[in-house]
Amino acid sequence: MKNEMGGYGRDWDRADDLDLENRLTDTGYIPGDGESDNPLRPRTFSEYIGQDKVKENLQVFIEAAKSRKETLDHVLLYGPPGLGKTTLAGIVANELGVNLRITSGPAIEKPGDLAALLTNLAPGDVLFIDEVHRLPRTVEEILYPAMEDFALDIVTGKGQMAASYHLPLPKFTLVGATTRAGQLSAPLRDRFGVVLRLELYSPEELGKIVLRSAGILHAEIDADAALEIASRSRGTPRIANRLLKRVRDFAEVMSGGVITLNTARIALDRLEIDELGLDASDRNMLTAIIRHYGGGPVGLDTLAAAIGEESVTIEDVNEPYLMQIGFLARTPRGRVATASAYLHLGLPLPARMQEDEQLRMEPTEG
Ligand code: ADE
Repeated sequence: MKNEMGGYGRDWDRADDLDLENRLTDTGYIPGDGESDNPLRPRTFSEYIGQDKVKENLQVFIEAAKSRKETLDHVLLYGPPGLGKTTLAGIVANELGVNLRITSGPAIEKPGDLAALLTNLAPGDVLFIDEVHRLPRTVEEILYPAMEDFALDIVTGKGQMAASYHLPLPKFTLVGATTRAGQLSAPLRDRFGVVLRLELYSPEELGKIVLRSAGILHAEIDADAALEIASRSRGTPRIANRLLKRVRDFAEVMSGGVITLNTARIALDRLEIDELGLDASDRNMLTAIIRHYGGGPVGLDTLAAAIGEESVTIEDVNEPYLMQIGFLARTPRGRVATASAYLHLGLPLPARMQEDEQLRMEPTEG
């Protein structure tokens, strides 16, 4: 069950779970990203761009734990996919000078799987569990005493044959990651001493990441081209790095390898990623809300069925960015497309929105 990263469980392939296929703007890991030896992945806080609040807090907690010679408290990282939760876990382990073990909630099927993982940790190690909200209930229950008392309480057999074991464990730090903090059970959430939310990156931060990555890849890139890629990467470094690699391919063929603004624009247009980073799936979703449901509200599952997409993909991948740029609103009755979405898609505004839009365009006097 050990994977190539020295961790356990299956690879970081959410693509099959989420039916994302090979979307360029897919935020899930796809094999080409080379998760285990990805040279673009920062290894230290000083290399890591963005998420300043998260970084500053983590640095303090790590420093304090080190000076007290204690293990770092358990950390929960949550936020949309592709923002660097695994990377941060790696940096935490690196800064603490301990090993990182990587697995994911669905990969730990039985209590015995978790027991095997935990008993193989060295003191102080970091255990990273991605998609921690998907741990089976039976596994979650033995994780509680492991997190709290660093011990495993395991019952084997039934009836007269039943026996219980109390197994001390090395002290460790659990770093849990989830896109869905709300789906975590309260007892599990309460056992994380540090809870940090990752935010989508600004285009400026992503621009710096693209420049850094281009340097590592020995790709020559103009600053305005880096910003162009960044502003079409929907706030997500994983997408920015993936687009950089594809734009570099176009640059090699079109402009002698140098990524200029013009090449970047042509490449991104050819990849059907528009100026705001929306891909065909985003446009399809907004168009469906507008054309089939009068702009909404429409329920998530109805919408998912209408466009042939998984509900979780819509929630995890499409919605965070569409909401951030103000194209989509979530209401108790369902999803609603905003006036900005109509305008971006070049669709006529319904009468009820026209007045609002006019008011917005004409600033009041006085
Ligand atoms: N590559 C991917 N994410 C990054 C980040 N946050 N900082 C620097 N390089 C990255």
